[in-house]
Formats: sequence, C-alpha cells, structure tokens
Amino acid sequence: MTTPAPKDGEAVSIRPAERADLLAVVRIENASFSQPWPYDAFDRFLGEPGFLVAETDGEIAGYVVADVTQKLGRSLGHVKDIAVHPDHRGDGVGSALMSRSLGVLAAHGADTVKLEVRRSNDGAKRLYREFGFEPLRRVPGYYGNGEDAIVMLRNLD
Ligand SMILES: CC(C)(COP(=O)(O)OP(=O)(O)OC[C@H]1O[C@@H](n2cnc3c(N)ncnc32)[C@H](O)[C@@H]1OP(=O)(O)O)[C@@H](O)C(=O)NCCC(=O)NCCS
Repeated sequence: MTTPAPKDGEAVSIRPAERADLLAVVRIENASFSQPWPYDAFDRFLGEPGFLVAETDGEIAGYVVADVTQKLGRSLGHVKDIAVHPDHRGDGVGSALMSRSLGVLAAHGADTVKLEVRRSNDGAKRLYREFGFEPLRRVPGYYGNGEDAIVMLRNLD
C-alpha cells in the first residue's frame, strides 16, 4: 500500500521485509546505532509480520521490527527496532512505519505494545509520545555503553 508522506508529498510504501532488503536494512542500522544489530538478527525476523520496510523511489528508506508474544494470558506487542536512513529523516517515514506496525500488532492480537528507548534519544521519544506511548519505567544500564533505557507502553484496546 502506498501512502503520501506528510512532509514533502513523496510517496512511501510500507511492505513486509524480504531477504533482498537485508543489506540495505543493515546499512541503515549501522548508520543509526552505536551498537547495531548484526545481519543475522534481522535474518531471524524474516517472515515475522511485524518486520516491515519503507520504500521511497524504489529504495529502502527505513524499517521496523516488531512482534507479539504471549505473557500471562496477554498478548504483548514489542517494537524492537526502528530506524530511518539519515537522508530520509524528518519526512514522515518513521511515523508511517510506526503507524503500520501498530496496525499489524493489533491485527495479531496485541492489547499492549512496549518498546525501549535510550534515555538520551529525545527525537525517538517524541515520535513515540505522538503515537500514544507513555514512559513506564527506567532500566538502568540497559544498553551496552551503560546508558539507561526508558520502557514506554501503549494500550491498543
Ligand atoms: C527516530 C526515527 C526512526 C524517526 O524517523 P523519522 O522518519 O525521522 O520520523 P518522522 O519524520 O516520521 O517524525 C515523526 C516525529 O518524530 C519526532 N522526531 C523524530 N526525529 C526527531 C528529532 N531528531 N528531533 C526531534 N523530534 C524528532 C518528531 O516529533 C516528529 O514529528 P514532527 O516532525 O511533526 O515534529 C529516526 O530519527 C531514526 O532513524 N533515528 C535513529 C535511530 C533511532 O534512534 N531509532 C529509535 C531507537 S529507539
């Protein structure tokens, strides 16, 4: 499905990730994080409905990895990774990915969605707040460099 990106009118299409996308995904991951996921980590999520890529002009502009797990009789959605190519940030691609991934998680029965974000990542925290996520708790030293994570939560009911 193609939806216009809100900022510049450039069309962004969101679709399930395929193996052929993985090199581009890993390149964006490496450009985005100091402790990036390796290729194999993405490979394991191929076929997972919550692993989506955003395409603009036939190029991979970003991706999201999310899944649903059962816990104590509840279905918990988890947004595990989201990033947009540095050249495409601020154009609505991240919002389009988040919006679609919440739809996929809801369609797969998630009643709640959680994610972790670096305490210092104000841009991402703003994106998540716009999508109704609220900070739940801080996890000291969650990241490899010792930085705290903020766990954020949103109900889908
Ligand atoms: C976070 C990220 C995925 C957002 O993607 P994006 O395509 O730039 O996001 P959008 O253009 O859809 O912006 C949506 C909202 O996010 C917030 N936002 C995103 N990046 C921001 C930044 N650098 N500074 C401030 N706000 C930011 C804003 O609220 C923005 O809404 P607005 O433009 O109406 O103010 C992208 O910046 C990225 O890949 N960052 C590096 C990787 C990362 O930190 N991932 C999250 C890990 S938890």
